[in-house]
Amino acid sequence: MRDPAARAAALRRSEIRVLFDAAARAGGDVIRLEVGEPSFTTPAHVIDAAARAAHDGHTRYGPNGGLASLRELLADKLRRVNGIEASIDEIVVTPGAMNALYSIYVALLQPGDEVLLPTPGFPNMDETVALLGGRPVFYRLAADEGFLPDVEALEAQVTPRTKVLFVNTPANPTGAVYGASLMRDLVAFAARHDLWLLCDEVYDEMVLSDDCVHTAAAPLDSDGRVITVCSFSKVYAMTGWRVGYVAAPPGLADLLRKLQEPLVSCPSTISQKAAEAALTGPRAPYEQMLAAYRRRRDVALDAAASAGVRAVASDGTLYMLLDVSSSGVDDLDFALRLLEEHSVSVAPGSVFGPAGRGWSRISLAAESEAIAEGVRRLAKALQEQHAERPSNARRETSP
Ligand SMILES: Cc1ncc(COP(=O)(O)O)c(C=O)c1O
Repeated sequence: MRDPAARAAALRRSEIRVLFDAAARAGGDVIRLEVGEPSFTTPAHVIDAAARAAHDGHTRYGPNGGLASLRELLADKLRRVNGIEASIDEIVVTPGAMNALYSIYVALLQPGDEVLLPTPGFPNMDETVALLGGRPVFYRLAADEGFLPDVEALEAQVTPRTKVLFVNTPANPTGAVYGASLMRDLVAFAARHDLWLLCDEVYDEMVLSDDCVHTAAAPLDSDGRVITVCSFSKVYAMTGWRVGYVAAPPGLADLLRKLQEPLVSCPSTISQKAAEAALTGPRAPYEQMLAAYRRRRDVALDAAASAGVRAVASDGTLYMLLDVSSSGVDDLDFALRLLEEHSVSVAPGSVFGPAGRGWSRISLAAESEAIAEGVRRLAKALQEQHAERPSNARRETSP
């Protein structure tokens, strides 16, 4: 589309932000389930390390691609958690994963290049691709298939312009964790069509189900086409510190490092020192957070089951999808009404692309009691909405 300024002007504002602002305006009594970040504050040892770093003079510009000391620690983390062997030159630290993804698309896309994106999926991706003149092409994840990609269906969406396959595991907003055999198929698919495979693993250490493990794409790749994006935001409760990182094949890593100069200069030095403390300090705070998310996931599932709302059990992340299609109204209208009449805010599913329609995403960042009460009120709103619908509309959608 047209020129960059026109593309910028055409950018939509995220409806999560619309809900977020409306919930904030509504004040204190609202049960906030739309939030996309941990409820926990950054652990004290990380904050202390940042303060120490500032006093010790880590207040200046750093290297474009991040401090070598942090990248050393990240090489170890990538090996341990993701099974990825990356040298420190193949790791680039960025101000959050969002900036990493933006820089990667800047480096890879030419106008009209197509990017295969999941729906329901992380909303900022299609906007970023469109902003840079690329063409977002959604591939649908079906609830009945556990919200996992169907490689056969993907085959039909490849064109000569397809450049990148974007995958996200554990996945926002579905909570799906992709297994090893699916990951192998996705890497083979990317190789067959000579695509980049951009694997967003920002929830890599947030696996909630005992029978699931996180599988990274890069260790399954033999020809340097996988790019891995991770973040400190969710796993380490550090959203506001803005630290993400990329593991990429050497040529691309060099390019990303070069791009940092005109885009952001470098990531925050103090935040990087905080990130180092998150990697080297005690694990207990993170284990406690994960245990809380697991408990809250079970609370949400129980509440949904008792209230008769269809929920999709999350195997990972801090989110869960609830089926609100029986309301018969658009999921944004449903979310706004839920907020207005029942003081519960949720993220409307259509924010996550066309296949998000008819779903609401709740966040496990709230306390258990708030989650249970929020789900009960959502069920009530669904019943009211359903009862209000004209009988012919009901007939149209009844099986
Ligand atoms: C799948 C996914 N990728 C990337 C991000 C961005 O993370 P960061 O805070 O590191 O920019 C998010 C944030 O919600 C996300 O859900």
